This record gives sequence, C-alpha cells and structure tokens, in this order.
Amino acid sequence: MGGERPRYFPDEGDVPDSPPFTPGFGATPPCLVGRDELIRDVCALLAGDPASEGGAHVLLAPRGLGKTVVLNEIEDAARQERGWLVLSVSGTDGDPIAETHKAVLGARHLLAHTHGEPAKRQVSGVSLGAGGLSAGISFEEEADLRRTGYGDDLRRDFGELADAAGQLGTRVLLTMDEMHAIPLAKARKLGSYIQHIAKRERQSLVFVGAALPYITETLLADRKSTFLQRLAVHRVAPLSESETRRGLREPIKMHGGLIGEDALDIATSAVAGHPYMLQLVGDRMWRAAGGSGDPIAVNHAKGAVAEATGALEDHLFAPTWQSLSDTDKRFLAALAVLAEGGGSPRVAAVCEEAGIGKSSASAYRRRLLLSGMVSPSGRGRLRLTHPAIGPWLRRSIAAGALHIP
Ligand SMILES: Nc1ncnc2c1ncn2[C@@H]1O[C@H](COP(=O)(O)OP(=O)(O)OP(=O)(O)O)[C@@H](O)[C@H]1O
Ligand SMILES: [Mg+2]
Repeated sequence: MGGERPRYFPDEGDVPDSPPFTPGFGATPPCLVGRDELIRDVCALLAGDPASEGGAHVLLAPRGLGKTVVLNEIEDAARQERGWLVLSVSGTDGDPIAETHKAVLGARHLLAHTHGEPAKRQVSGVSLGAGGLSAGISFEEEADLRRTGYGDDLRRDFGELADAAGQLGTRVLLTMDEMHAIPLAKARKLGSYIQHIAKRERQSLVFVGAALPYITETLLADRKSTFLQRLAVHRVAPLSESETRRGLREPIKMHGGLIGEDALDIATSAVAGHPYMLQLVGDRMWRAAGGSGDPIAVNHAKGAVAEATGALEDHLFAPTWQSLSDTDKRFLAALAVLAEGGGSPRVAAVCEEAGIGKSSASAYRRRLLLSGMVSPSGRGRLRLTHPAIGPWLRRSIAAGALHIP
C-alpha cells in the first residue's frame, strides 16, 4: 500500500486576502490614484449626444501607464451607473470585425432574453427600467445558432442592437483596447459602421478605444476615415508625486501595514510617476516586510526598488527596445550616453553622437516620443522618460546584452 498522497493546493478555507498591489498588466489596483478627473470627463462626454462629437474617444499612453485600467473603470461605470450594454473587444484578439460581431450577437442574445423574462429584467446587474422593456425587441436567434462566420452582417446586426438599446432607453458602449494592433482597413470599416449607426436617429452607440501613442501617426492620421480623424484624444498621464505617495501608502494602510516616511521617499522617487512601477515597488516592499508584520523600512524599500527595476527592464524597456527600428535604437543609445548624470541633451547633439544626419532629426525625435521612452524637455532638448532607462541602456550595451545596429 502506498502512503497517503501529498496535497498541493492550499486548503480552500485558506484563500489569501486580495493583495494590496497588482503588478500585472490590465489588473485594476485596489487603490487607483490620479484618474478620477479623466474618467469623469470621458463619462460626461459619453453621456451627451452620441451622434455629435462626444460619442467616440481614444485613450493614449505608452505601456504601463494605465490605459486598460481606465478603460475598465469606464466600462464598469457605464454598466453600474447607467445600465448600458458594454461590448469589449481587444485589437490583439484576432479579427476585430469578427470579434465585434461576436460581442454584438452575445449582447443581442442577452437583450432578447432579458426582454422575454420580466423577472430578470437586468443587463449586467442593472435594471433597464420597467416600462421600456415592452418595446418589442426580437431578434432572429435561430439564425445565430447556425452561424459559422462572423463579420458579414455586422453593420445590420450592430444597427439592430443599437436600435433595440435606444428603444429601451439605454446605450451600447463599444470599447476597443490595444487599438494600435488593428490593421487600417479593419479600423476604417469598423469606424464607418459605428459612424453610420450612431448618426441614425434614436440609435445609441458610443465608443472608447485605448492605444499606444504612435497611432496619432498611423490610424488617427488616416485621411480616408472621418471616424478615426475625429476620435477625441485623451492622454493618460504619468502620476504626480503626491498621487504616487498615496498610491503606495493607502493600500499598505488598508491592509493593516505601515510604511516609514524615508522608505516612502525612496519608493516614490524610484516610481517616477509610472503606475506599473508603482505596483511593482509596492508589491516587492510589502513582501520584503512580510506583509503587515513589520513596518516597511528603508532597507525593504531599497531591496524592493532593485527588484522592481529588474522587472521593469524585462517587461517594459526590453520589449519596447525590440520594437524600435535600427536608427531609432542608435538615436536612443546616443541619448542614453549624453544623458548620463541626468542631463537633457539637445536633439542636434544626439544626432551627432549617433551619426544621424540632422535632416532626419525631427523624424527620429518624433518616433521616440511616440514610443514613450523619450520625453521633450524644454526647447530642442530631450530626456529619457523614466530614470531607470539610462542606466539600463548603458549597462546592457556595455555588457553586449543589447546590440546597437
Ligand atoms: N492610476 C493608477 N494607480 C495605481 N496603479 C495603477 C494605475 N493605473 C494603472 N495601474 C497599475 O499599472 C499597471 C499597468 O496598468 P495597465 O495594464 O492598465 O496599463 P496599460 O497602459 O494598459 O499598459 P499596456 O500598454 O501594456 O496595455 C497595472 O499593474 C495597474 O494595476
Ligand atoms: Mg493595456
């Protein structure tokens, strides 16, 4: 007879409390700082006339600044505060037209069912209001069950959904995360459908996308799509120092822990306004101090900053570097050399250091600004966006880990 089998899963009763920090992409943090105004502004515009300029928006920021989190907050607010139907699609999930169509059919299904059963007059947890539901909503569901392809009838099906929502006195919010990943032709097509539907009387459809800033040069610059041209741009900005301090201190307090002022200073300065870094540093400090056991002290903060910086390099800087062109890499490496000691070199000096002709300087400058690695710093000067970028670049290049083309 063999011995008793060891158990690997924790006891079901021992589920740990939700952690104070969430160092993962797309994870809504327990303490979301510095975004109330932005979220309120977008919601106010969405609540206006969908056929006017207020109905289509895009959130722009480099990686890790919190676009997905803001998008999710807007979705939750739309569902919970207004009872809107929310369809969310990601630009990286395959064909965006087919994905949108699947979401539309799913919502139609939900609407038809909630319409049919008075006891369950709810869409995503919020009542649609009694009287409006007898408005005669019916879709041909049998046809959907036999469906094998998506996309062809999107305009018709989406239009019907928006129309039904309008009759119920509610709205459809379509969100599209990672919008930069959509091919131009698909974005044009989707945009023309949305525009067509939103313009038709009584049809209530609004849109919020999220993307990396470079789409201002690609999708948003498209001359053929008025939908893309007219998207209202909202920048998701780095956090201020006081927001960062609150974002670090509050979750620790909420979980029964403490942090010393000196430790908080060290952590705040290493975060440098970057929300993903905030979550990384917070998480590593919390663990180093053994949760709410000991107050977080300077040694915990220093160790946490070193660990978090490593994670930032691997998950953020390295992938961004890989996405740059050869000349962009040379430009950035030259900037890192000249910025050693914390300076903000002139664009012309960077070009000279990199051996790039001054005539193309403004093109490289613009592309690096769009990558999020570089920020403007006064007239004709540039700086690296995060203080950890320079040391990482210089060290990795010297060690041969990064290759300058
Ligand atoms: N306002 C905030 N306050 C505190 N933490 C935040 C805030 N915004 C985002 N975060 C945290 O930062 C990390 C990155 O957020 P998110 O995934 O939303 O960024 P993103 O801009 O969508 O990045 P990507 O471009 O890679 O998709 C997550 O761990 C999230 O919890
Ligand atoms: Mg995201």
